[in-house]
Amino acid sequence: MIIEPVPPFRPSHFRVKFAVESWELRACAALRRQVFCTEQGIFEGDDCDAIDAHAIPICALSTLGGEADAVVGTVRIHEVAERPGEWWGSRLAVARAFRGTAALGAGLIQVAVSSAHARGCTRFLAHVQERNVPLFQALHWTNLDAVELHGHPHHRMQACLAAYPPMHDPERGLVTLAKPLIPTLAKAA
Ligand SMILES: CC(C)(COP(=O)(O)OP(=O)(O)OC[C@H]1O[C@@H](n2cnc3c(N)ncnc32)[C@H](O)[C@@H]1OP(=O)(O)O)[C@@H](O)C(=O)NCCC(=O)NCCS
Repeated sequence: MIIEPVPPFRPSHFRVKFAVESWELRACAALRRQVFCTEQGIFEGDDCDAIDAHAIPICALSTLGGEADAVVGTVRIHEVAERPGEWWGSRLAVARAFRGTAALGAGLIQVAVSSAHARGCTRFLAHVQERNVPLFQALHWTNLDAVELHGHPHHRMQACLAAYPPMHDPERGLVTLAKPLIPTLAKAA
């Protein structure tokens, strides 16, 4: 008998939205620890800080049979109390197995900036790790200046709000689709 290897299941749809359920919040925190403590070693043991007390967490969910299945990406946003209208995004992370597979980083950035825009944001900023500057530039962000944070080179970058129309229903968010495994071949002329 010949047993064919079964390819691993690949979700085809992902939803990016505000994290509201307690399991979503727990899974966002776990993914952040996995990426920023275990993988990148930027923080030891726990990456939580004072911003978490008032930040809005956002999640990217994989779906199984149309139902939310697992958190595979996260980011958080907050408004600066002393400067109304100024919002920041931070702790952007996509689970390693899903990077580059479904535009989850781009989807998280879109929900982050567009939902803040709908809440009165006039300036949206982030400290971006140096290696990710090209990703943000491709997504309509401007590089303002270089800063050293947690011992790593970062850039302070600002989103072009015109590229991020206000999103009024971030609890519903948006859907991203998995990219095809094999790129479609261009038809011969
Ligand atoms: C940075 C990160 C969130 C990107 O998530 P992702 O889901 O892989 O990103 P996307 O698939 O949405 O990328 C969008 C596009 O940018 C490209 N891209 C992704 N990361 C990039 C990078 N660092 N530099 C240049 N281009 C990049 C992708 O190839 C894709 O291009 P395509 O649409 O032509 O295929 C992810 O790599 C990650 O979690 N890294 C570890 C944690 C981290 O560095 N956090 C960011 C702190 S600033």
